[in-house]
Amino acid sequence: MTSPSLTAPHPMLTPEGKPSITDWTLTPTKIHLNHGSYGSVPRIAQQHQLELKARMDENPCIWFMGQAAAVGAARVGIAEFLKVDADDLALVHNASAGVSTVYNSLSFAPGAEIVTSSHAYGAVLEGARRVARRCGGSVRIADVPLNADAEAVCELVMAEANDRTALIVLDQITSATARSFPVEAIAAAAKARGIPLLVDGAHAPGVLEFPVPEFDGYWVGNLHKAACAPRGTAALVARGAFKEVLDPLIDSWGFPHSFPESFDHVGTQDITSWLAAGTSFEAIERRYGWDGFRSYSAELADYGQALIGAAFTAATGEDATADVGMPVGPLRLIRLPRGLATTHEDSHAIRAWISDELDIETAITTFDGEGFLRISAHLYNSPSDYEEFAEKAVPQLAHLARTR
Ligand SMILES: Cc1ncc(COP(=O)(O)O)c(C=O)c1O
Repeated sequence: MTSPSLTAPHPMLTPEGKPSITDWTLTPTKIHLNHGSYGSVPRIAQQHQLELKARMDENPCIWFMGQAAAVGAARVGIAEFLKVDADDLALVHNASAGVSTVYNSLSFAPGAEIVTSSHAYGAVLEGARRVARRCGGSVRIADVPLNADAEAVCELVMAEANDRTALIVLDQITSATARSFPVEAIAAAAKARGIPLLVDGAHAPGVLEFPVPEFDGYWVGNLHKAACAPRGTAALVARGAFKEVLDPLIDSWGFPHSFPESFDHVGTQDITSWLAAGTSFEAIERRYGWDGFRSYSAELADYGQALIGAAFTAATGEDATADVGMPVGPLRLIRLPRGLATTHEDSHAIRAWISDELDIETAITTFDGEGFLRISAHLYNSPSDYEEFAEKAVPQLAHLARTR
């Protein structure tokens, strides 16, 4: 307990003085350290969405006749939250849908190549491989070390680009390795080479004050992660000439319009999550402030990382620190004891075991054949959550590694 990062922040309280977790409906029998994967929706936004669903079923005819206009209005509110022009933003149900929309809208010449990095999200990478299979091309993966700095990331990614590169796909904040990438620098380098860039900003909304970088190209982001919107709320941002080629993934009645109005028409889909998203944004701003979220979650994540890392090192004698080069906001990585979670199958099994046996929700990730614990911090977390992980889970995981 000597490092300054081991100073625990005061637990966050509601304006009424109650523990902040009372604004959520998370089960109290578990500790929730994995907001990063699936988010968690504040009680007030859940209630709003339920009211909207009830209204939809009171008169479906009226609801669906007015749905496109309602989507257009929600789009304006979401654009304001993301600090982008509403004419550059379409709503989609998740980051995956946004990425698939771009993959399906662009033309890929025979033999075209897509460049990405070894930190790419698995499903996004698989989508790129499918595009490559269809056009007889290939995916080039820049091998980026965990601790690479901005300059190294930029060099390694751009070194994979050539005359056949039709698209660069890059994470803004990575999933398995909880780090950020220098997207502005890569956007500038890609523009200089005339290559379109798709930024996977799934984790950026809420985490970054300005989540959508200033560049001409494509950006997708989930509002249902840190920003706490009801699930199924994501944005696809496209600027300049790049937006002209975008068609919705699912054809509907928006076809006479251009982007983004063409995306406002989604047929008979339930878009109540989009309409209730603003309730989450407003409630968090009113009760805690988004700046308050960003500073509290970063401080708490620092504390959790230092505490749990020190506990692992004390239990195993191994260095548990994971230098991720460009750490970011509320996500942190801690190296697991040697031999644990070295494959995706093992990481899933260990995560499930920690949940079932120890009642703690975490993300266990594998990168480059090594296993990591990824912790998240949100307003509803408190220092005791990480202390409990250090006390309960660390000795058990160290024992597991020793006895395997
Ligand atoms: C970096 C990244 N990209 C894309 C996704 C996909 O998000 P969704 O499942 O909401 O489409 C995730 C999900 O965690 C992610 O971490």
